Amino acid sequence: MKVLFSLLLVLVIASPSLCSKVRESNIPNAFNIVNYGAKGDGHTDDSNSFLKAWKDACSSTKGTPTLIVPTDKIFMTQPLTFQGPCKSATMNVTISGTITAPPNREHWKSNGNDHDSWITFSHISGLVVNGGGTLNAQGDSWWDKSSSHRPTAVRFLGCNNLKHGPMTHLNSPRNHISITGCDDVLISNVNLTAPETSPNTDGVDISSSTKVFIEHSTISTGDDCVAINSGSKFINITNVNCGPGHGISVGSLGKNGEYSTVEEVYVSDIIFTRTTNGARIKTWEGGSGYARKIIYNNITLDGVKNPVIIDQQYDALQYAGKGVKISDVTFRNFRGTTKDKIAIKLNCCSIGCTNIVLEEINISGLNGERSSSLCKNAHGSSSSCNPTVTCLNN
Ligand SMILES: *[C@@H]1O[C@H](CO)[C@@H](O)[C@H](O)[C@H]1NC(C)=O
Ligand SMILES: *[C@@H]1O[C@H](CO)[C@@H](O)[C@H](O)[C@H]1NC(C)=O
Ligand SMILES: *[C@@H]1O[C@H](CO)[C@@H](O)[C@H](O)[C@H]1NC(C)=O
Ligand SMILES: *[C@@H]1O[C@H](CO)[C@@H](O)[C@H](O)[C@H]1NC(C)=O
Ligand SMILES: *[C@@H]1O[C@H](CO)[C@@H](O)[C@H](O)[C@H]1NC(C)=O
Repeated sequence: MKVLFSLLLVLVIASPSLCSKVRESNIPNAFNIVNYGAKGDGHTDDSNSFLKAWKDACSSTKGTPTLIVPTDKIFMTQPLTFQGPCKSATMNVTISGTITAPPNREHWKSNGNDHDSWITFSHISGLVVNGGGTLNAQGDSWWDKSSSHRPTAVRFLGCNNLKHGPMTHLNSPRNHISITGCDDVLISNVNLTAPETSPNTDGVDISSSTKVFIEHSTISTGDDCVAINSGSKFINITNVNCGPGHGISVGSLGKNGEYSTVEEVYVSDIIFTRTTNGARIKTWEGGSGYARKIIYNNITLDGVKNPVIIDQQYDALQYAGKGVKISDVTFRNFRGTTKDKIAIKLNCCSIGCTNIVLEEINISGLNGERSSSLCKNAHGSSSSCNPTVTCLNN
């Protein structure tokens, strides 16, 4: 009995490390950065080990090459780029341990991209980045320098057929994840965390990409949880806890007179907690293009400042008749509380927003008091909407 008990104890204690070791060595065609000299002591610069392991993985022609960042260690790297295209049609990057940026901005070296980002995945198709580890971008030393050019933590550039998560991202200097020029993307089970007061620390920024899905994730940062920018279409965001932060935004679109387009956006099953915005569409004056076919559905609000907001900025005379056209937008099944009096703001410029639909909305003040709405140049319909939006139905 005693022997059996000891045996069990040994098994219980040994099994987690046993499992992960077995798992890692069982992966065919694996490229473990430790075998390329990475120290993982938290302060030695391991960048070269990452790059050497990647070079071999990317030029391998067998199966799915897997770059391995093992568990229980902290690997410090300078800004680096995992460059594709690779020989294999699919690439796995399994990060079980922690990767950390230099602790202070003074210690960041430029890798030629002018501090644009910390870790870049460029033009790799069929890429999977998962493993449940942590990417700590150590952004705090960047946040207080308000005028400086801050880097994105992780950038996916031209990566078609991308899967990312489970993964934790901490404290980006600027946005945590940026997705640019990628088609067929699935981001799931990511946890993006930075202080509420950290500037411009968006969770995920999407631009010039199609078919991007974000699901089952928690995003608590100092700016937008997700921002959907120009050139994006077929974007689904579902089952996300957002807050603190600035909400899930389409835009800002049309800055500096740009032509911007976003369409086919579906956001559902979201809980916004203490965010400044919930569902937001924002455009700049003087731009052109459109934001259309956008649905926000099944949204829970807890003390949100602007639960529903369309914000077309100023309507200065020189821009009359010009602007990013907003149409076919549905806000359905919103419930909960607002921190401000005005729960619904539809502030459209003179060209007007058309086919704006509000259905099954019930938003009250923090103490159950009535909230109100504001409406300018918006056309469409509303039903079962508290607060009422009198300018619709026309
Ligand atoms: C690569 O990652 C995917 C997704 O996690 C997994 O299904 C696949 O088995 C992995 N391939 C290898 C060779 O480990
Ligand atoms: C996300 O990560 C932060 C920081 O590590 C942690 O405090 C928080 O509990 C995590 N949230 C979830 C939902 O895992
Ligand atoms: C994405 O959203 C659209 C609604 O606009 C829905 O029809 C489609 O099934 C969603 N796709 C997935 C994979 O959830
Ligand atoms: C609405 O979203 C919540 C998560 O916020 C989810 O638990 C619930 O199942 C969703 N309801 C429907 C009808 O999909
Ligand atoms: C709206 O929400 C309030 C507060 O939760 C609740 O008392 C009220 O019954 C709801 N109204 C409708 C029509 O669901």
